[in-house]
Amino acid sequence: MARIVIVSNRVPSPTERGPRAGGLAVGLADALKDGGLWFGWSGEISAQADGTVKRVEAGNITYATIDLSQADYDRFYVGYANSTLWPLLHFRLGLIDFRREDLEGYIEVNRLYAAALARELQPDDLVWIHDYHLIPLGQELRRLGVKNRLGFFLHIPFVPASLFTALPQGNTLLWAFCAYDVVGFQTEQHRRDFVDCIEQLLGLTVRGDGTVVAGAVSMRAIANPIGIDARGFAALAAKGERSAETRRLKESLVGRSLVIGVDRLDYTKGLPARFDAFGRLLNAFPEHRQKVSYLQIAARSREDVSEYQALRRELDRKAGNINGRFAEFDWVPLRYMTRAVSRNTLAGFYRAARIGLVTPLRDGMNLVAKEFVAAQDERDPGVLILSRFAGAAENLTEALIVNPYDPDEIAEAIHTALVMPADERRDRMAHLRARVFDVTAETYCRNFLAVLKG
Ligand code: G6P
Repeated sequence: MARIVIVSNRVPSPTERGPRAGGLAVGLADALKDGGLWFGWSGEISAQADGTVKRVEAGNITYATIDLSQADYDRFYVGYANSTLWPLLHFRLGLIDFRREDLEGYIEVNRLYAAALARELQPDDLVWIHDYHLIPLGQELRRLGVKNRLGFFLHIPFVPASLFTALPQGNTLLWAFCAYDVVGFQTEQHRRDFVDCIEQLLGLTVRGDGTVVAGAVSMRAIANPIGIDARGFAALAAKGERSAETRRLKESLVGRSLVIGVDRLDYTKGLPARFDAFGRLLNAFPEHRQKVSYLQIAARSREDVSEYQALRRELDRKAGNINGRFAEFDWVPLRYMTRAVSRNTLAGFYRAARIGLVTPLRDGMNLVAKEFVAAQDERDPGVLILSRFAGAAENLTEALIVNPYDPDEIAEAIHTALVMPADERRDRMAHLRARVFDVTAETYCRNFLAVLKG
């Protein structure tokens, strides 16, 4: 059986596997259930970042990582990946901060990854590369003579050709995608937009099944939505319900309904509009004052990118405004924290919540939506409010679907959810649960690897 090699910029720390690890890491761990190699950045910045590989063995998985230099981190991670590709692929052209030297740094780091990874590879390995940091890695591996099957999966959205053309030297990036045997997207829409780019901007012909065959190119674009380990997460939530943290949370609510939002502190997540929506709810539906508490956990993220610093200041201000305006001496309407909370604890919190508020302006998939659903108690479930621009909305259609740009619409959805009869809540949640338990982390890995094997 071929060995599976996963490559991603972030590599989960072997000691942090299980409940503390993020959704993506847990999802991908399934691909390595029979062992394999996980390769990527160590998360460290060091002066002698020369591609030296650090290896940690944990069970039958080898974690192999390299350090980045300060200049690599600035140009590759802060620069091109998170100040050009991230805003572009989330439809935010106005936030792009492109510099040629960042693009050069991006290519150089991909070259560094390729050189270090090529030394680790065995001839039959199936190599599965993840996300926008590493798009040119396949091409760089091919340049080094690597003949293995190479797959790539983009976890974030893809944009229509009319937006993609804003990317300086964008065609070079499109050609880099063509070095893979398989390129995967979260939704059919993202896949279609990518195929349009390949046809319109590169002039290649794409067959109905997503295959491009032209000269040295033999690539297939597929849609393959990521899921979660729904059963595992449901068990975590049932246990979490009895945890000390969930008990403390419930006691602090003194019978009030809990609205919960959990996101990285990122401008794609629609947090300012969500805060505005909560303010409008309290204004337009005064019957909910003192009856509801909104807990927003917005874990600080990418703090070296200036847009993220600006967003944090904006949210601090908005949170202060809402609480200053509506709080009572014994009620704080909005509880806002920028510290990360462990998945164990979150699972219990989701189960305790009446409403899960997931309103990104754009999102590849959004696993919080799926975790919220998996965590619910079927007898008395909460309601999911979901942005139509999250990949998850493609099949979680029984959520209350909202336009995340419209705070009034979100406020109305919160009101609808707060007064929704138990029968309707159960009915909607039963449909949502069927989907979340059907498209899982396991099916995601299995489907992609089956196509990659060819
Ligand atoms: C998104 C991306 C991942 C990334 C994660 C955390 O989910 O798709 O590739 O790892 O955000 O962001 P960070 O910049 O901390 O790695």
